[in-house]
Amino acid sequence: MANLLVLGTQWGDEGKGKIVDLLTPAFEVVARYQGGHNAGHTVWVRGRKIVLHLIPSGILHPGTLCVIGNGLVLSPAAFFKETDDLEAQGVDAGPARVAVSRGVHLIMPWHPLSERVSEDRRGDKKIGTTCRGIGPAYEDKAARLGVRAGDLTDLRVLREKIADNVAAKDPVFRAFGLPALDAEAVYREYAGWAEKLGPYLRDVSELLDERMKRGENILFEGAQGALLDLDHGTYPFVTSSSSTAGGAATGLGVGPRTIHGVLGITKAYTTRVGGGPFPTELEGELGRTIAARGDEFGATTGRPRRCGWFDAVAVRYACRVNGVDRIALTKPDVLAGLGEIPVCTGYRYKGQVLKSFPTEPWILEKVVPEYRRLPGWSESLHGAADPGSLPQTFVDYVRVLEDLVETKVAIISTGVERGQTVFFPSELGGFVDLARVRAAEAV
Ligand code: GDP
Ligand code: IMO
Ligand code: MG
Repeated sequence: MANLLVLGTQWGDEGKGKIVDLLTPAFEVVARYQGGHNAGHTVWVRGRKIVLHLIPSGILHPGTLCVIGNGLVLSPAAFFKETDDLEAQGVDAGPARVAVSRGVHLIMPWHPLSERVSEDRRGDKKIGTTCRGIGPAYEDKAARLGVRAGDLTDLRVLREKIADNVAAKDPVFRAFGLPALDAEAVYREYAGWAEKLGPYLRDVSELLDERMKRGENILFEGAQGALLDLDHGTYPFVTSSSSTAGGAATGLGVGPRTIHGVLGITKAYTTRVGGGPFPTELEGELGRTIAARGDEFGATTGRPRRCGWFDAVAVRYACRVNGVDRIALTKPDVLAGLGEIPVCTGYRYKGQVLKSFPTEPWILEKVVPEYRRLPGWSESLHGAADPGSLPQTFVDYVRVLEDLVETKVAIISTGVERGQTVFFPSELGGFVDLARVRAAEAV
């Protein structure tokens, strides 16, 4: 039995959805541990595109149980929109397939409203959030005001908690000229969700423990990326949850030793959506060309993603913070045909070369990246699945990245579809049962 943690090593959108869907056949359970419907995980199956926001990216494999841990924040409206969309496409997303932790915090109607006010107040310092109410829901969790899914199972408790929240927030809402909060209307809406959500609710920690005792394999799924982590990211330009490896244990109620391996999903270049520092950003035509070739538009908000060169300082940091064992390198096909490919190997700051990643935006905004220019390759990588078919210049490029980030590459993704993937079995062997993945691919 081996449980694998899959997470992003940059600022999100590394291609986690594709890789989680691809590897799922080797696991009985896929369990997400943080974030909410700020995430957008794209999966393509035989020309059909499916974007998942809250539901784990294992849902397209009928035998797999998908788990939403206590570490997430859940909007019931977004959850049921997603289950309805999946059902409409013939995917069962009912309680037999999806389990939701009783400890998950609910996004309430006041969360997106107050988020818009706080983003506006920041002016040019705004974070550029997805405005889904994610941050304010985590604020209430930390403030011990939050409403949890388990509270839906006793309507008296639910009514009282909503009343307490409205009493606490109403003066603030009034001060900002927002509409008055109607506790009774919110109660009626959430009492309605209570009936629908009830069958999904589980003690997730106990459920995972039982499954592991039966010898089942768990894939722990991270959303966002290491540099958006609340503690280890480029604070305050981060999301409000623990997207790094430590979040998996607290976000699901499992011990740290249940995680047997960590696979870091890493894009062959860098992207970022929203505000915040980005040392290797390409602000001109080349950045826009890469964005167009890589289809770099937010899967949740549709915003164009900022693009830049691969930043080995940032990814080496992410590998350390998460204890990444192996990397899945995604989207190198987008870089084909460039004469040379610069890779950032260090930052120059106040006359010194920084070898490790500073998370402070006021430092990152001033660093000057140092680049090593690697020869590009002219051959298309698109759709490659055989390691022997990869051009030598590209293989050399991968070896340099491995050295710079001090971590081996075990998977190379060369397109959006499951089959467009190169595996290096000797690197992946201990973490994923490749025979099960390959058997499913063949179906
Ligand atoms: P996630 O949030 O990490 O799951 O990533 P997103 O789904 O937000 O963004 C990744 C985008 O890249 C999606 O549109 C994927 O379909 C696409 N993608 C994933 N892997 C590859 C790849 O190897 N090559 C190309 N060209 N596109 C890819
Ligand atoms: P996936 O899982 C990329 C960014 C937002 C914003 C910041 C805070 O698809 O990789 P939030 O709404 O979370 O409070 O916004 O975090 N962000 C993401 N960027 N991919 C994501 O998820 C993201 N989720 C949040 O753009 O800069
Ligand atoms: Mg995404």
